[in-house]
Amino acid sequence: MSLFRPSTIANAKLLDHVANFTEPHWNLNDSLHDITHANYVIDRSLMFSQVAKKDEEIDDNMVYTIGAYHDIGCHIDRKNHEEVSAEMLAGDKRLKRFFGHSEITTMAEAVADHRSSLYRKTGTHPRSTYGKIVSTADKRIITHVDWNELLDTSWLRKNFPNNTHEQNAMSRLDDLMQRFGLIPRLEKDIRYFDDPEYSAKKDEIAKVLLDMDAFLKVYADVHCVTEWNNVLLTLAYEDMQKYLANELAKANSHEKDTTNST
Ligand SMILES: [Fe+2]
Ligand SMILES: [Fe+2]
Repeated sequence: MSLFRPSTIANAKLLDHVANFTEPHWNLNDSLHDITHANYVIDRSLMFSQVAKKDEEIDDNMVYTIGAYHDIGCHIDRKNHEEVSAEMLAGDKRLKRFFGHSEITTMAEAVADHRSSLYRKTGTHPRSTYGKIVSTADKRIITHVDWNELLDTSWLRKNFPNNTHEQNAMSRLDDLMQRFGLIPRLEKDIRYFDDPEYSAKKDEIAKVLLDMDAFLKVYADVHCVTEWNNVLLTLAYEDMQKYLANELAKANSHEKDTTNST
């Protein structure tokens, strides 16, 4: 598979160069960050750029280039891949044939800002609309709500084999509440543009997560729980609240550190 060549990008030399530079890196990445993912992000980035253009001038050559470079450093350093990929973009001297210095800086910053964890870790958002476009484009859509997958406990059963059903249920609830942005400040999935297919599914999921009886019923169906122990449930719920308070404190102290160091 090769890198997507959008018909709206007229500069063939830019398309050739970006493909030549980035494809070898995408091919070295893991399967979640391969060329299929690059093409998914480029395609969605160009879709969101159409929305952003209603408010400001957006250069699709930059949108395309950001999408094409945004994860190329994954195979080098997965943990810090946003910084590594940004450095690779900024260090690609041939991009100077197509972009000015400030455009290259903006693109590198957008790549550096693309991760979901940015807000959680620093309390900040991408510095430019380009960063918001790639960050939103990078998010997965949900084609159908699969509670078996959402409530999968294989990781919990492997790492916490003595957990009760009640503990596992509260652990999944807490994780999904964070994932679907139902706990302010601990959002894992901020989207800066309306993502219609995702929003409809998110609303469907949120309705269940925000209704404890409904959630316990769905969980019981998936995991064949015949009866809940109310004492254990209360304890697990209290543990979850403590954990969340701790995560909030961590997020706020990260933010303070970042503010102090800037
Ligand atoms: Fe990434
Ligand atoms: Fe990505």
